[in-house]
Amino acid sequence: MEGKTTRISPADIDRQREFCDKIQEAWAARPSQPLAYVDTYGCQQNEADSERIRGYLTAMGCGFTDDEKAADVIVINTCAIREHAEDRVFGNVGALVHAKRAHPGQIICLCGCMAQEPRVAEKLRQSYRHVDLVFGPHALWKFPELLYRVVSRRGRVFETTDEAGSIAEGIPLSRQDGVKAWVSIMYGCNNFCTYCIVPYVRGRERSRLPEDVLAEIRALVEEGYKDITLLGQNVNSYGKDLGLDMDFADLLEKIEAIPGDFLIRFMTSHPKDASQKLFEVMGKSRKIAPVFHLPVQAGNDRVLKAMNRVYTREEYLDKVRRLREQVPDIVLTSDIIVGFPGETTPEFEDTLSLIEEVRFDALFTFIFSPREGTPAASMEDPMPMEEKKANFQRLVDAQNAISAEKHAAYIGRRLRCLVDGVGEEMGYPLVARTPGNRLVRLENGEECLVGSFREVEITGANTWSLTGRLV
Ligand code: 5AD
Ligand code: SF4
Repeated sequence: MEGKTTRISPADIDRQREFCDKIQEAWAARPSQPLAYVDTYGCQQNEADSERIRGYLTAMGCGFTDDEKAADVIVINTCAIREHAEDRVFGNVGALVHAKRAHPGQIICLCGCMAQEPRVAEKLRQSYRHVDLVFGPHALWKFPELLYRVVSRRGRVFETTDEAGSIAEGIPLSRQDGVKAWVSIMYGCNNFCTYCIVPYVRGRERSRLPEDVLAEIRALVEEGYKDITLLGQNVNSYGKDLGLDMDFADLLEKIEAIPGDFLIRFMTSHPKDASQKLFEVMGKSRKIAPVFHLPVQAGNDRVLKAMNRVYTREEYLDKVRRLREQVPDIVLTSDIIVGFPGETTPEFEDTLSLIEEVRFDALFTFIFSPREGTPAASMEDPMPMEEKKANFQRLVDAQNAISAEKHAAYIGRRLRCLVDGVGEEMGYPLVARTPGNRLVRLENGEECLVGSFREVEITGANTWSLTGRLV
């Protein structure tokens, strides 16, 4: 898997567009426009990949549907991060047997991180014979070519080889939203946290060239996008592989210099790479949103070491202090794993004390899930699930209390919020986001305000969200 980044040539992407044309021709005799259904699991990176899949499908002449039975092509973009995510995919893919029986010409594709796991590919090959095409994240750029093989030969295609990571520019993109956009700046991960499957399925870190990232963002701002999130498994190590003397903080400064009224966000950051320089750039910035997702995973040094996180509790707390020095009103969020193999309840209590000390605005909490092939999957794991669940609940309760207190402190404040959608609850016609990305349900306002920054007075709060009024 190790190796130099391959940059897919523009000619190769042009060839993929030719395959889109060929598929369109093959489908031209159909009585109606072919319809595609794209179902996405997991993280924002997968959402971004699905935008490319939809871009390619659009180039093939497809329309879209949310009804799997009506679809001529189904693409399931999967997540492998925890067993639960995989079980859901297997359940839903299994159920597609019925959709396909009702619609024999239907093509079912499975892609994303699960497809890159040899065990999963084998299971699909043997037991899910209604799945026609399986391809991993490394092969996404050649989706049209793979689909054409299915369309023209009606045989099953598996493209799950573990190639060295590549970067492809120029894949057509169909974005779902007109206000918020996700821009991948790098792919893969080098960190090999002992519980995590990502480095095995997404390959080594590789950065897009800064000129490509900047051109994409410039175009988005010109199109009117207001909220741009830079994506990568570890955005803080952006550029290390490029040899250009340019790091993530430098990239942010260049993005900041793009004219226009827009917000810049990013995720995810590994604490070891979150630098003082980055905090200072954020402190000076007018466009970088004051929000930082900084996964800590655990608050006990022995557990952090066993996770291969390569920082101590004290080093983490020090980063948080330095970040808050530069950006005092920073909204901090984090990820935590409860029940890592060998974690005792007193060690878990160090995580509890850490969250009380940091007082995160919100947490994403997970119970450890063994992933085959990772070191943690074969570690001794004596704690009964009941005890893990009890610890998990203590963590959730503690964080809910903190989140509710932090949200209550917003009441009465006036903030410049981005109105980013229509409300789905009675009495709240619009929804907005604070600069720190807290959800605000707005009590007033018209749909035409979506996509604009507005002054909002916060009128109410609960654990998960705020309510407010346009001023
Ligand atoms: N079990 C539980 N949680 C995990 N995560 C990653 N791998 C696992 C696993 N095997 C969590 C981490 C990571 C987030 C995206 O998912 O907290 O930051
Ligand atoms: Fe997984 Fe660790 Fe890489 Fe995050 S930094 S993707 S948790 S290996």
